[in-house]
Amino acid sequence: MERCKVTILILSLTISIFPLQLLSSEAIPNQDVSYMKFVHNATDLPTKEEYDYIIIGGGTAGCPLATTLSSKFSILVLERGSDPNKYPSVLNAQGINNAFAAGDDGKNPFQYFVSEDGVENIRGRVLGGGSMVNAGFYSRGHREFFENAGVDWDMELVEKAYEWVEETVVSQPILNNAWQAAFRSALLEGGVVPDNGFDLRHLVGTKIGGSIFDNKGNRHGAVELLNKANPTNIKVAIQATVQKILFSGLSATGVSYSDSKGKLHTASIHKNGEIIVSAGAIGSPQLLLLSGIGPKSHLSSLKLPVVLHQPHVGQFMTDNPRFGTTIVLPFQLLPSAGKVVGILQENIYIQSFAGPSTFLVPPAFSLLPPQSTSINPTLASFVGKFSDVNSKGWLHLNSSLDVKKSPIVRFNYYSHHDDLDRCVRGVRKVGDLLKTQTIEKIKTQDLEGEKAFMFLGLPLTENLWNDSSVKEYCKKTVTTYWHYHGGCLVGKVVDGNYKVIGIENLRVVDGSTFSVSPGTNPMATLMMLGRYVGLKVLKQRW
Ligand SMILES: Cc1cc2nc3c(=O)[nH]c(=O)nc-3n(C[C@H](O)[C@H](O)[C@H](O)COP(=O)(O)OP(=O)(O)OC[C@H]3O[C@@H](n4cnc5c(N)ncnc54)[C@H](O)[C@@H]3O)c2cc1C
Ligand SMILES: *[C@@H]1O[C@H](CO)[C@@H](O)[C@H](O)[C@H]1NC(C)=O
Ligand SMILES: *[C@@H]1O[C@H](CO)[C@@H](O)[C@H](O)[C@H]1NC(C)=O
Ligand SMILES: *[C@@H]1O[C@H](CO)[C@@H](O)[C@H](O)[C@H]1NC(C)=O
Repeated sequence: MERCKVTILILSLTISIFPLQLLSSEAIPNQDVSYMKFVHNATDLPTKEEYDYIIIGGGTAGCPLATTLSSKFSILVLERGSDPNKYPSVLNAQGINNAFAAGDDGKNPFQYFVSEDGVENIRGRVLGGGSMVNAGFYSRGHREFFENAGVDWDMELVEKAYEWVEETVVSQPILNNAWQAAFRSALLEGGVVPDNGFDLRHLVGTKIGGSIFDNKGNRHGAVELLNKANPTNIKVAIQATVQKILFSGLSATGVSYSDSKGKLHTASIHKNGEIIVSAGAIGSPQLLLLSGIGPKSHLSSLKLPVVLHQPHVGQFMTDNPRFGTTIVLPFQLLPSAGKVVGILQENIYIQSFAGPSTFLVPPAFSLLPPQSTSINPTLASFVGKFSDVNSKGWLHLNSSLDVKKSPIVRFNYYSHHDDLDRCVRGVRKVGDLLKTQTIEKIKTQDLEGEKAFMFLGLPLTENLWNDSSVKEYCKKTVTTYWHYHGGCLVGKVVDGNYKVIGIENLRVVDGSTFSVSPGTNPMATLMMLGRYVGLKVLKQRW
């Protein structure tokens, strides 16, 4: 059995030693863009309009939500980013590596930000949101997420909502990628069992997850969920940057947004209509604060009029710290994003990426130091995260008050000792994987014939049984998994129906409402949530 695995590995490694150039040539994008018939440049929209629902943010949760509500109501989606088709590199799996490090020009799909912790991070700024710039791994939420979300879930509807998403955007990956196949073997050899084959559900053990990349590498992000909308009821405005939500007393009545020429527009809601904020975990708390909903002292210090004193807006900001290690491979390999995940007890997860890219190593977008880029190595990263992050942070407005500027965010990684304990367990498991026969193969031989892993950056702690040295390693190598969440938590800022507590006609539906990020990767549950809340609203009103 063991030998058989090893043979397969060697075979597949041999097959993949092609020039990287050839392998990473961009696939021809093949998306269903019928949604484009109702997408408009914000400059072409009237300066005053009325709708049943206005959705702020055409992102991962916002698109399925808008589509669902359009079956019965008139919908306006306001998205600050552009049409993803203007950026072919985000439309396929290979292009993403380069696009990531291409820079932030203030308009392209990748908005960089650096938290006060000093960790580089990325936000999606494009129609489709994070689902257009992410690594595409699709896996449903874990049981404890549903138990602790503060929502009285209709689990049958949850199931239906996941299925509705999956029929349109999710593929079962073919595990023809040498690295992902090797990583899967290593997990099984390293005791991450059982082997759950391919599954979209959250199951302890090793599994192949879903992907929004099809087997030709084409991305199918949240924008394609817009294809299921009623086209006569929906308008999507791009380059429409919402400046603030407008109120009459404690009722939301409309929004003010600017187009790419800086011209201001207002859109208001009909009686019984709603404003739904789906601007993401950074964008939604930022917009509530700019609109006057937040801690009075913070708003007053910026001379912002207070609509509602709400101490929890911008609080409980959380990012799942990414731990792990990156190894320089002694051969070239087809790049791959994660297709496989190891789910350990205590909701600790391990995935792996391979490629020539900066995307893999701790800085989220800075270039590698020149000495390593000059040899153009292929890298393999073993990366992990855990769901239950106890360290919490905050988000404040930058005094510039420009909605286009990222607010100031601190996540306080590892400020709670439980988080360090979980990192230690995860790093030890990475150590186990490096001891497997499969992964031994990526050791490099020096002139004396000694074999060792060529770590990029800090080498993995040698004595993994020494708690304090592993903890030190965790702190020194901390980076992001890009699954930051919080800022408008259920039970604190919104109720179990995602309605802003204390305000009429206003909801928040996106990752800012999560106290825990769902499953190994949150996108599946964010898309599900958009559909789910949409269905709930339809049920309540019909
Ligand atoms: C690099 C990277 C890799 C990732 N990999 C994965 C992965 O493989 N699998 C996975 O499950 N998850 C992954 N994630 C996480 C996942 O993509 C995000 O958690 C998810 O997309 C967030 O969804 P959301 O609906 O909360 O917000 P978003 O999808 O970010 O949507 C918010 C939208 O609101 C818009 N917006 C914000 N402010 C305004 C405003 N004032 N006016 C108008 N529009 C506004 C934004 O432009 C954006 O389109 C990754 C994330 C990143 C960044
Ligand atoms: C929208 O229109 C303005 C003005 O014509 C133009 O400058 C901008 O590039 C357009 N945006 C898109 C996404 O087409
Ligand atoms: C706030 O924004 C200004 C202007 O862009 C910038 O110079 C400053 O560094 C920002 N402050 C923080 C704390 O991020
Ligand atoms: C464990 O690691 C710490 C910090 O690196 C070090 O000071 C200590 O001596 C180590 N203990 C043992 C038993 O090796």
